[in-house]
Amino acid sequence: MFTTKNIEVTKDITLGVLKPRDAGEIFALIKANHDHLQRWLDFPEFTKEVNDTLKFIKDSVKKRKKGVGYDLSIRYQGKIVGLVGLNQIDSKNRIAEIGYWLVKSAEGNGIMTKSVSKLIDVVFDDPMVNRLELIRDVDNNKSGGVPERLGFMQEGKLRGYKVHNGVPRDFFIYSLLRSDPRP
Ligand SMILES: CC(C)(COP(=O)(O)OP(=O)(O)OC[C@H]1O[C@@H](n2cnc3c(N)ncnc32)[C@H](O)[C@@H]1OP(=O)(O)O)[C@@H](O)C(=O)NCCC(=O)NCCS
Repeated sequence: MFTTKNIEVTKDITLGVLKPRDAGEIFALIKANHDHLQRWLDFPEFTKEVNDTLKFIKDSVKKRKKGVGYDLSIRYQGKIVGLVGLNQIDSKNRIAEIGYWLVKSAEGNGIMTKSVSKLIDVVFDDPMVNRLELIRDVDNNKSGGVPERLGFMQEGKLRGYKVHNGVPRDFFIYSLLRSDPRP
């Protein structure tokens, strides 16, 4: 699960362990996609300079070393178009939570569905994870499409679960168990 090698998803899509040298490329994407990402995620408003992205990458490396999560770049035809990873790993209960984003221009091609499908293979290769979770804002239907295409079960609504852009928001929670059938 904690592979340090790049993971090939298709001939065009590769998942890569984040490196400090990726900071400039990722920072430029976040700047250019600020409104697209800030609509659903918190980090763009805290990403003001390239050092903020560098710090995120360094923290991600530490998180990985501690075994509590990790982030991977998604490269499409060699260029980074988004990130996917495990926001947290609860090893006691064998649960990991998936998170992701794509730049606007890369949407609509199945890049995230294919990347998450591959991530699931990699994570379930490790017997220490039994349950994958994913949460998304009830209005973020594009995000919901990813777990729905991959056989996750929508388990329910988490009311007032996160304050986003100053407003308490409801979220749907999805899960996939190691024993669940996958499409
Ligand atoms: C959430 C997000 C990653 C979804 O992106 P996406 O492009 O819709 O997801 P995918 O890459 O899996 O592509 C699926 C789309 O490609 C289409 N598609 C084309 N070829 C496909 C293929 N081979 N396999 C799957 N889908 C395919 C699907 O029909 C779907 O399009 P539709 O939404 O019009 O039905 C993206 O909208 C995003 O990053 N948003 C901002 C940040 C965000 O919300 N992050 C998640 C927070 S929970």
